[in-house]
Amino acid sequence: MEEKCCVIPQKKVLDESYWDSQYKDNTTGWDIGHVSPPMKAYIDSLTNKDLHILIPGCGNTYEAEYLLQQGFHHVTVIDIAPTLVEKLQSKFAGNANIHIVLGDFFTHAGQYDLILEQTFFCALPPTMRPRYVAKMHELLKEDGALAGVLFNRSFDDGPPFGGSQEEYEALFNSAFHRISMQPCEHSIVKRANSELVFECRKNSQVVVHLYSFRGITCNGCMTTVTNKFKEIEGVLNVRMNTDYSEVMIVSESEPDMQKLQDAIAYDAKYQIEKVK
Ligand SMILES: C[S@@+](CC[C@H](N)C(=O)[O-])C[C@H]1O[C@@H](n2cnc3c(N)ncnc32)[C@H](O)[C@@H]1O
Repeated sequence: MEEKCCVIPQKKVLDESYWDSQYKDNTTGWDIGHVSPPMKAYIDSLTNKDLHILIPGCGNTYEAEYLLQQGFHHVTVIDIAPTLVEKLQSKFAGNANIHIVLGDFFTHAGQYDLILEQTFFCALPPTMRPRYVAKMHELLKEDGALAGVLFNRSFDDGPPFGGSQEEYEALFNSAFHRISMQPCEHSIVKRANSELVFECRKNSQVVVHLYSFRGITCNGCMTTVTNKFKEIEGVLNVRMNTDYSEVMIVSESEPDMQKLQDAIAYDAKYQIEKVK
C-alpha cells in the first residue's frame, strides 16, 4: 500500500518544517487528487448548507472545494504548511465562502457545527491522540459533529499512524457520544478494507481536561494510575497518551486537583499538572 508520506525518518519531529518540506519536495503520497469518495458520500448526506465547517490538516483540500460546489458557505480550512497554504490562498482568492488559515490546529480558536477528518488524525504522532480529542471537543459547538475517515489497520512506521475501531471508541468515549463507526464502503482502491467511516457528537454535558504527567515508565503503571483516576467521583473516561506524558480526563465537572494528586500520592515520582 503506497500511503507513505515520509521521506524523513519517523523520529523526526512532525512540525511545520517537516510538513512544508513534503509540499516543497512534492512527496505528498497521501494526496489522492480529488475529493475522497467517503467524504463525498458524507457531504452528500448533509442538508443544512449553513453549517460552520472546519477541515483541519486540509492539504490540497478537495473536500472544501466540493463543499463550496455544493453551496456550503461557512468553510474554514487550516494547515500548518506555509507552501501549501500560500497555494490555497491564491486558488480560492476572492471567495468569501472559505476561510483559509495557516497555523497549528492545536492553537486554533473557533466554534464549529462540523469538523471533517480526512487523513489528519493519522498524520499526527500517536502521543497526540488524547490532545486531539480534547481539542475537537473544545472547537465544536453544542451537539456539533466530528465525522470522517480513520485507518483501520496498523503501519510499520508513520506517518500515517494506524489504529483500530476498539482504540478509537475507547479514545472518544464520553467526550463524544452517539458514536457510529463502521467499515468504509467507498474507499479508494489502495485504501480498500482498511478504513472506517465515523461520526460522533460532542457531549456537552461533560468537561474535557488535559494534564501533563511525569513518572510513568511502563504500561502496567499507566493502567494502575488510569484506574485510580477513574475511581474519582464524576470521572467518566481517562486516556493517557502513548509516552505517558499527557492524560485526558473526561468528567461531569472539573476534577478537583487535590483529588487527582491524592490518587497518585502512593508514588512520589508521579506528578500531574493541568495543561488546559
Ligand atoms: C497526510 S496530510 C493530509 C492532507 C489532506 N487532509 C489530504 O487528505 O490530502 C496531513 C496534513 O496535515 C497537516 N498538518 C500536520 N500537523 C498539523 C497541525 N498540527 N496543524 C495543522 N495542520 C497540520 C500537514 O501539513 C498535512 O497537510
